[in-house]
Amino acid sequence: MACEEAPYDETKTRYQELTSTVPAGGNPAEDMYKYQGFWYPKVFLEGIISAQDNFKAKPTDIILCSAPKTGFTWLKALCYAIVTRTLFDEFKSPLLSNLSHFLVPFLEIDFAESPPHREPQLPLLSTHLPFTSLPESIKETPCRIIYICREPKDTFVSLWHYLKRVVENTESEKMLKIEDQLDMFCKGKSPWGPYWDHVLGYWTASLEMPEKIMFLKYEDLKNQTPFFVKEIANFMGKPFSVEEELDGLPEKTAKFCNFESMSSLEVNKCEKFRPRGPVEIMNSAFFRKGTVGDWRNYLTSEMIAKLDHITNEKLRGCALEFGSSDLGSSQ
Ligand code: A3P
Repeated sequence: MACEEAPYDETKTRYQELTSTVPAGGNPAEDMYKYQGFWYPKVFLEGIISAQDNFKAKPTDIILCSAPKTGFTWLKALCYAIVTRTLFDEFKSPLLSNLSHFLVPFLEIDFAESPPHREPQLPLLSTHLPFTSLPESIKETPCRIIYICREPKDTFVSLWHYLKRVVENTESEKMLKIEDQLDMFCKGKSPWGPYWDHVLGYWTASLEMPEKIMFLKYEDLKNQTPFFVKEIANFMGKPFSVEEELDGLPEKTAKFCNFESMSSLEVNKCEKFRPRGPVEIMNSAFFRKGTVGDWRNYLTSEMIAKLDHITNEKLRGCALEFGSSDLGSSQ
């Protein structure tokens, strides 16, 4: 066991007390609760509190973090492929038969009941938690964090499509009008939102602790995947050797994990993610278009202005920019 057994019963009591006091109400598609300044679907709240109470990070851990719909599935696949490159070649990789989410434990779910078994050679963990709500041991231990974010308009469009898949064929489907969802997103009432506060929390922390937190943008990763594969490997303390570089392994890893490769795998087309978990969904819901700038196909000029205005206000005075999506490339 990687973590000590912890008092999970106390967590249950704390969760029950909290849900009776924290404000509820948000996204009509899901029952949302506001906790420590961020909105969470109720089904995840107990797991979040449990992870905060019980998760003990190890110095060798690498925690992958993001808000939903910013390229987490992709980041997990890339990191998993990099970390396991000496264990499996691309023909035997577990990524060929598993969605990347299945291979990297998720704090909000996998630590909800008891700490999961972890293989020592697999240091990867993941969470959507904002920086301020991470379990204390992550901040106190010299483990590393890799964060990915995405241009807010593309994040919103991706989220809207994903939520529609979550509630497909249910009564809630009718409630998922893009106008209403945009309103919620802008008010911060999106899962693990406010989105901008999520991004800024990690951005600020990455400036203060660059050796601990690597901050990535989906658009940059898309533009220069092999370059960032090498950067990620360096950051994880697993740099590519000269021989590996000469053999083109960073490029091969980028290609192996790209949208076309991952989305065409049988497992990612036909199987279900967490069939008995809090949210049951087809793996294919994590692969839609995988492009930059798809917001142009869905947002009106008023919607664009509304989102851009919030982004400009929130990012005012900080060096973070989301410029590359404005190029509208759809690679
Ligand atoms: P779109 O809905 O814009 O297509 P997350 O993994 O955080 O849930 O984010 C999902 C988004 O990442 C979706 O965006 C999905 O298509 C995209 N995505 C999934 N795998 C990808 C990959 N290998 N390369 C690029 N984008 C990917």
